[in-house]
Amino acid sequence: MVEVEKITYYLFLSLLSGTFFYFLLVVVFFILGKTVRVKIISFYGVLSSVAYSSGIVGIFLLKDSVLVYVLVMLVYFIKFVFELEMYNKIYYSQVRYLGYYFVLLLLILFSIVLFFIGVSDKIFYLILAISANVVIGIGWITTRNLAILSISNGLSIILLLLLYDYLTFSVLFSLVPYGMNSIYMIAKEYSLALKSLKNIEENIDDLINSQVDQFKNFLFLLINRMESRYDSRKNHSLNVAGISEGIARELNLEEKVVNLVREGAMMHDIGFLGIDHRKLSTNVTYEESEDIVKHVVIGKEILEKSNVFIKYLPIVLYHHEFIDGSGPEGVKGKMIPLPARIVTVADKFERLINGRDSHKLSIRKALEFIKKYSGVLYDPEVVKALERYIFKRFYY
Ligand SMILES: [Fe+2]
Ligand SMILES: [Fe+2]
Repeated sequence: MVEVEKITYYLFLSLLSGTFFYFLLVVVFFILGKTVRVKIISFYGVLSSVAYSSGIVGIFLLKDSVLVYVLVMLVYFIKFVFELEMYNKIYYSQVRYLGYYFVLLLLILFSIVLFFIGVSDKIFYLILAISANVVIGIGWITTRNLAILSISNGLSIILLLLLYDYLTFSVLFSLVPYGMNSIYMIAKEYSLALKSLKNIEENIDDLINSQVDQFKNFLFLLINRMESRYDSRKNHSLNVAGISEGIARELNLEEKVVNLVREGAMMHDIGFLGIDHRKLSTNVTYEESEDIVKHVVIGKEILEKSNVFIKYLPIVLYHHEFIDGSGPEGVKGKMIPLPARIVTVADKFERLINGRDSHKLSIRKALEFIKKYSGVLYDPEVVKALERYIFKRFYY
């Protein structure tokens, strides 16, 4: 018997010191924690370790009274409440456990009533303590699918039964697996925090790219809607983008450049946003219209404001330049960037086949027109690539 008292004493001390270290750990987390969530979780950790250690001291001081069972049930309950709250915070959920709380409180109340009416048979209290463990175990499994935490309840039950003859010892021992729960909980929170940091680092580029893509597509949609107000301009940029991409592929450009050409072609007339739309429906010959100069400059001013779209600037600014230098900016030959030379050809071709500049031309006639000015207005390589693309697309 003396031996058991001694072992119980050591168990009491080791539980208390273990809880104290846990308490220090969560206090440090609470102070150093940078986010509100970490602070709240650490705060629950502090509360549960205080409740836990007070319970341990109480159980030890009560010696072998059956009140020890009542007290340990209270500790089970309080820890259950705090740890479920911690879990809610870890997984950003708002799950309530009122049913379980209610049953546990009833069990505790019943054990207090038993004590006050003078029932001192240990077996009744033991059954209630085991029932409390079963309720908590079921709570962990059903609400959180946390079999791992309910195992600690199973272990507590086994210890309560195995060491039944030594009341304080068995009850204190039954609290050991509960201590593991708290450590598991805190470890989980920190491993999750680390994992999410790693995920953010790994996915940040994808995240930015998908946002930029969404933004681009939204802008392309706006451009398309704007053009659809006029029959003569319907889908103009979309068509020019398709033809430009075809030319770029015929020129065997890198995928990155092909994308730049296609997207730039989609944006090439963005400057029309700033042009009086009433003028656009008149039949002024396109190349002679003063709006050409204006929409190029307005487009440039729009793109300059964005660090995402500035890469399309050469296309927007030079898509009305001719290689003989007769365009609005007077830039010549290879001085005009290749993407712009491609879009210039695609743009003219599209206007010809859709009859925007004059009467509608057939594909063959439009191609003949472009070829006539190859080497004068248009880059011969680009014109050849257009021819190849058109041939594949329409005659094969
Ligand atoms: Fe244009
Ligand atoms: Fe255009």
